[in-house]
Amino acid sequence: MIDTDKELTARDSSLGRLLVYGLGLIGGSLAQAARQRGLCREVIGVSRRQSTLERALEMGVVDRVYSDAREGLSQLGPGDMVVICVPTLTVRATLEELRECLHPAVTITDAASVKGAVVSAAIDVYGALPPQLVPGHPIAGSEKSGVEAANPNLYVDHRVILTPEPQTGTEHLAAVRRLWEGVGATVSLMPWAEHDEVLAATSHVPHVLAYALVDTLARMEENREIFRYAAGGFRDFTRIAGSDPVMWHDICLSNSDAILAVLDHLTGSFAELRNAIAVGDSDFILGVFTRAREARTHFTKMLERKAYLEPMTSQSLIYRTQKAPGPLSGRLRVPGDKSISHRAIMLGSLAEGITRVSGFLEGEDALATLQTFRDMGVVIEGPSRGEVIIHGVGMHGLKPPPGPLYLGNSGTSMRLLAGLLAGQPFDVVMTGDESLSKRPMGRVAEPLALMGAVIETEEGGCPPLVVRGVDSLNGINYVLPMASAQVKSALLLAGLYAEGETAVTEPAPTRDHTERMLGGFGYPVERDGATARVRGGGILKACDIDVPADISSAAFFMVAASIVPGSELLLEHVGINPTRIGVINILRLMGGDLTLENERNVGGEPVADIRVRYAPLKGIAIPEEQVPLAIDEFPALFIAAACAEGTTVLSGAEELRVKESDRIQAMADGLATLGVQTEPRPDGIVITGGALARGGLGGGVVESHYDHRISMAFAVASLVANDEVTIRDCQHVATSFPDFVALANRAGFRLLEAHA
Ligand code: S3P
Repeated sequence: MIDTDKELTARDSSLGRLLVYGLGLIGGSLAQAARQRGLCREVIGVSRRQSTLERALEMGVVDRVYSDAREGLSQLGPGDMVVICVPTLTVRATLEELRECLHPAVTITDAASVKGAVVSAAIDVYGALPPQLVPGHPIAGSEKSGVEAANPNLYVDHRVILTPEPQTGTEHLAAVRRLWEGVGATVSLMPWAEHDEVLAATSHVPHVLAYALVDTLARMEENREIFRYAAGGFRDFTRIAGSDPVMWHDICLSNSDAILAVLDHLTGSFAELRNAIAVGDSDFILGVFTRAREARTHFTKMLERKAYLEPMTSQSLIYRTQKAPGPLSGRLRVPGDKSISHRAIMLGSLAEGITRVSGFLEGEDALATLQTFRDMGVVIEGPSRGEVIIHGVGMHGLKPPPGPLYLGNSGTSMRLLAGLLAGQPFDVVMTGDESLSKRPMGRVAEPLALMGAVIETEEGGCPPLVVRGVDSLNGINYVLPMASAQVKSALLLAGLYAEGETAVTEPAPTRDHTERMLGGFGYPVERDGATARVRGGGILKACDIDVPADISSAAFFMVAASIVPGSELLLEHVGINPTRIGVINILRLMGGDLTLENERNVGGEPVADIRVRYAPLKGIAIPEEQVPLAIDEFPALFIAAACAEGTTVLSGAEELRVKESDRIQAMADGLATLGVQTEPRPDGIVITGGALARGGLGGGVVESHYDHRISMAFAVASLVANDEVTIRDCQHVATSFPDFVALANRAGFRLLEAHA
C-alpha cells in the first residue's frame, strides 16, 4: 500500500537519480519499491552479472543498468544517491570505486548488516568518515536471495537503523531517511557499536546456530534419513539456514567480537542445561523453559504491537461510547481478585512444595509480581487460562535477581515485596512506571526500618526502592497511622523473617487476605481485635488456591446495572470477604438492589453470585467505617452518586489522593466534564446527584490519568450519557481487568477502543 503523505514528502525532497549497487534481494527490492513509488527521477542498477541486469530490466526493477559501476557512478551529481547493497566484505572495494569516481555531494548509504565494518572500511578508504556517507541497515530480508526474489513491499512496516556519526552531513541523513520512509519503513538512529551488539544477539547468532544444527545433523552418518521425518520444530528453527551463505560468512567475520561475546554466554548456558539434563535436574530445566517461554510470549506481543515500529510507551488507548445503550443483562464472571492473586504468587513461591492456583488474574499487576519471583529463581508454570503452578523454593530459597525488579503500575507488588524482601540476604532494586514512581513508599520503609530493614527510597519516599540484604530482622509492635492492608501485609511478611513476634494494629479493618492465606499455607496468625500477630521462623506448606472473581472489578457492573433502567446482571463467583464488601453496603444504603446467591466458602474466602437489578438510587453520607472496605470502589461509586437523587458526601477518604492517581481530583474533573457538580475536599468529595432525573449525563473528553479504575468508572458513566464520551489513556485497564471492553460489551455496553 502506498502512503500518500510519505509519497509527497519524498517527491518534495526531489531525490534525483538513485543508483543501487548490487541487485540481490535487498538492493532489488529497494530499487523496485523506489521506482514503483516514484521516489526519484530514475533508478539505475549496477551488478557485475549480466544475467542479473537482464532479469532486473525484465522485471521492471530498474530503469537503466551498468555492469561497469564506474560508468554509472560518474554520471551522478548533487541530489543523487548511491545505495551499496553488496555483501559486507565487499563494501570496502565498492567504497574504493566510489572514492575514485563519485561526486562528493552524492549521498552514499549502504545496507550491510554490520555497521562497524562499514565505518572502518570508509575510514581506511577516505582517511575519515566522509560526510556524504550515512551507514544504514534495513532489518528485513528473507531466506530467498537474488533479484528474482525482489519484493517492492519488503520494507513496509520494517525498521531501518541508520548509524550516522557527528560528521555525517544532515542533508545526506535527511535524504536517506526519506528514501527508507518512502518505501514504507520506519527509521531509527543508533550508534554503530550498539547496532552491531544488538544484531549479533538477535540475528547473527541465531543464524550461526541454525547453520550449525543443520550441518551437524547432516554430517552424522546415522542421520542421513532424518530430514525426511523432520517436523515443524526442525523446520521452524532452521528456516534461516536457507539464507545466503556468502552474506552470513561475511557477517560472521566482520562482527566477530560481538558474535563471540554472545556465543560465549550461550556456550555456558548449553553446558548448564546439558548438565541439568544429564543429572535430571527437573527444576532447572523447567526454570529455563518457563522463563524463556515467558520472554518469548512477551516478545511475540511486542512484535504484534509492531514494536519494531512504534515505541511501546506512546500507545494510548481511548474508549469511546457513541450512543447510550439499552438495559444490561446476562451472567458475567469478572477476572480473578488482584489482591489474592499477588499473595498467591508470593506465598506459593516461599512455600515448600507445589502450589496450584486457579482463577489467577492475568492482569499486568499480578503478572508483574509473577515475573519478579521468576527473576528470583522460582519456577512458575503458566498462567494459562488462570491456572498457575508454583514450584515453591521454601522461605530461604529465593535467589538474587539478575537486575532491578520492574513492577509496572503495581503499588501492591512494591509494598508487599518491600516487606518480603527486607528479610532476604541479598540487595534488590525495585522500580515502577511513572505513576508508581510517584507513590509514597515511606509508609512501608519507615516501619520496616524499625524492624532492622535497610531500605533506601528516592526523595519524598518514592521509588525506586533499594532493599539491602540483612542478616536478621526483629519483630515490632506497630500501630498503623493509616488503614492500609498493603502496609499491614508488608509488615506481616517481614515478620515471617523476624526474630520474635511482629504485631500490627490497624485503625480500621482492612482487607485480610494476607492473614487468611498465611493460615491456608499452615502459618499461624493470631488475630486479636484490631491486631494481627505472626512469629518469625516458621514455614509455609504448599496448597491449592482458587481465586474468586475480584469484587473491585465486579463493582463497575454493580454500579452499571444499578443506574441503567431495566438492567439485571448476575455476577458470578465474586469474593465477598467482609473486609471488601463496602461497595455492596454503600450501594444498598443508596437504595441499590443487590442480592447474594449461592454463598459458599472457597479455600478460606467467602464467595457468592451477586444479582444486581436497576433501582433508583439516593444520595447519602457515606459512613466512614465503610471507607477502607470500599477503598478501590469509589471511582465507580462516584458515578452512582452522580446518578442518584440528592447529594452524596464522602469524608475520611484522604487515601484516595495517593492511589494510582489522585482519585478525588481525577473523578471531580471528569464528572465536571460530564456536567456533574462536585466539591472536592482534602479527605473526600461532595457530589450533587440528579443526572438521571435530568435525562442523563453530558458527553465530552475525560482524562483517566492513566488510572485503570478512573477509565472503567467513566466507561460506566458513558452508559447514561447523552453525548459521546471519550476516555483517554485507558491502556492501564489491563493492570486489573484484561478484556474489560469485551466483557462489558457482552453485558450491553457499547464501548469502542481506539489507539490515539
Ligand atoms: C491492596 C490494598 C489497598 C488497595 C489496593 C490493593 C492490597 O491499598 O487500594 O488496590 O492488595 O493489599 P491500601 O492498603 O494502601 O489501602
